[in-house]
Amino acid sequence: MKTTLSIFAATAALLLSSCSDNRPIVEASFDIIPCPQSIEPIADRANYVIDRNTVIHYTPETSEMERHARFLQQYAADILGYQIPIKAGIAIKPNSANNGILLKLEKGDAESEAYDMLVSSDQIWITANSTAGIFYGIQTLRKALATTLNNEQFTNNGGFRVSLPAVHITDAPRFAYRGMHLDVCRHFFPLDSVKAYIDMLALHDMNTFHWHLTDDQGWRIEIKQYPELTTIGSVRKGTMIARDFSSNDSIPYSGYYTQDEAREIVRYAAERHIEVIPEIEMPGHMQGALAAYPQLGCTGGPYDVIGWWGISDDVLCMGNPEVVKFCTNILDEIMEIFPSKYIHIGGDECPKVRWEKCPKCQAKVRELGLKKDKQFTAEQKLQSWFTRQIDDYLTAHGHLAIGWDEILEGGISDNAIVMSWRGIEGGIEAARQHHHFIMVPTSYCYFDYYQRRDRSAEPLAIGGYVPIEKVYGFNPLPEVLTEEERQYIMGVQANIWTEYIHTFNHVQYMALPRMAALCEVQWCQPERKEYSRFFGDLGHMTDLYDLYGWRWCRQAYEEPMVIEEQAQ
Ligand code: ACM
Ligand code: ZN
Repeated sequence: MKTTLSIFAATAALLLSSCSDNRPIVEASFDIIPCPQSIEPIADRANYVIDRNTVIHYTPETSEMERHARFLQQYAADILGYQIPIKAGIAIKPNSANNGILLKLEKGDAESEAYDMLVSSDQIWITANSTAGIFYGIQTLRKALATTLNNEQFTNNGGFRVSLPAVHITDAPRFAYRGMHLDVCRHFFPLDSVKAYIDMLALHDMNTFHWHLTDDQGWRIEIKQYPELTTIGSVRKGTMIARDFSSNDSIPYSGYYTQDEAREIVRYAAERHIEVIPEIEMPGHMQGALAAYPQLGCTGGPYDVIGWWGISDDVLCMGNPEVVKFCTNILDEIMEIFPSKYIHIGGDECPKVRWEKCPKCQAKVRELGLKKDKQFTAEQKLQSWFTRQIDDYLTAHGHLAIGWDEILEGGISDNAIVMSWRGIEGGIEAARQHHHFIMVPTSYCYFDYYQRRDRSAEPLAIGGYVPIEKVYGFNPLPEVLTEEERQYIMGVQANIWTEYIHTFNHVQYMALPRMAALCEVQWCQPERKEYSRFFGDLGHMTDLYDLYGWRWCRQAYEEPMVIEEQAQ
């Protein structure tokens, strides 16, 4: 995408700004992703020009607002190649030109993520009732500056001023929960990669990082009460090669985050208005833990951390009185590290074959009086009994449990939130039962699926076909829901499972630019969404990906999805 380049020797805007800055002017636009809710041109005002006199001001003079000013300074420097100075406080002099970029926190609903931006010849005002709103206004300005990237003459050499059109933007997200998930169990990614992932979320105005920390193939978070979860549970002896389930490379694979490292991620994310939701899988996907503590399984083991891509039949034994305590002890430490309102407790893909045969589990079924009925088996109800205790425990400690949609089976516990992944039906059912839900259906939101129909030149993936147009077309509020039921939606997320993704560079390739499409599903009201406009603006986003050295997939340009498929 080439940015329109206009050079004015003497424009009205130039006259209003300093005469000492004679560098050429490059025009920027607000053709950005996600598209703001409202952009009104201001007819009788000239453009604002960022030049040598521009200063970023902020108020109140707190460390958080200063940090936000520094974010803007850094983003602008990344794009323009020069630093805009920062000054605490806002002093507007009457009729003075170029008072700079003003970040102003207003008094009001501090929960709101909305912001307001007024661009005119004298100033750019970004105002909001919360620092999150200020942050999203900064992201919008950052992306507007990025529309100047990739012009041949002036790329990143500090040799130009930028003209921004006089507009009034009012903007707010459609959904409160705007997430991306990352599986660090099948493959592990170092701290710097996790931070880069958070940077990717921030650029897309997302506010939730769902960190999948434990699974059959590796336990990846330090738990001080159970050190063997990491000394044993994080290490698998080898891994299957490509798609060959009979193979094993015999290369030990390991990695975990210390609690301090996890706290560092929580802090890094919070500075960018992103909440980290840890996921601790239970009662299935637990073989990493069982390898370390085999007495918690139905057979008593021994168990290995598994080295193939599938679901272990070995899960926590529901008849073992230690199991709930083990889980709540782990959650005690997790709640210490992660202040998030929500804790994800997995709950998906928990085979019942061991429970059906295990005398202790069957004794528990009898003790609880669980009976098969038309809807659910006794073992599904056994999982529900377990989840209810975990849900109650988290609630009593001021958190809420999120689980994959299997937590509906056997009866959902009182406060649990459903993450609907096997389609949208789990979300619909949750809403009907007056439970909150998050939409993450495989058919739109699984970014481990192929992006291109032609797989021959693609890195090996788990399967499926989710091109960017498909993601963009996702409607997370099905028509069948009543107005009242629709209120239970929290938002939308995409997942990146990493069985076939070994490197962070490959994670980026799977995420980008599908995250751009997802962020419009999350942020934009339906009437603001239009694929042709989005596609036209995508080049500015990919220019930013290139600037940061983030790998991305060219499917949207090279192999667009055909129209008939989009309608499906
Ligand atoms: C899942 O993909 N098993 C939630
Ligand atoms: Zn058992």
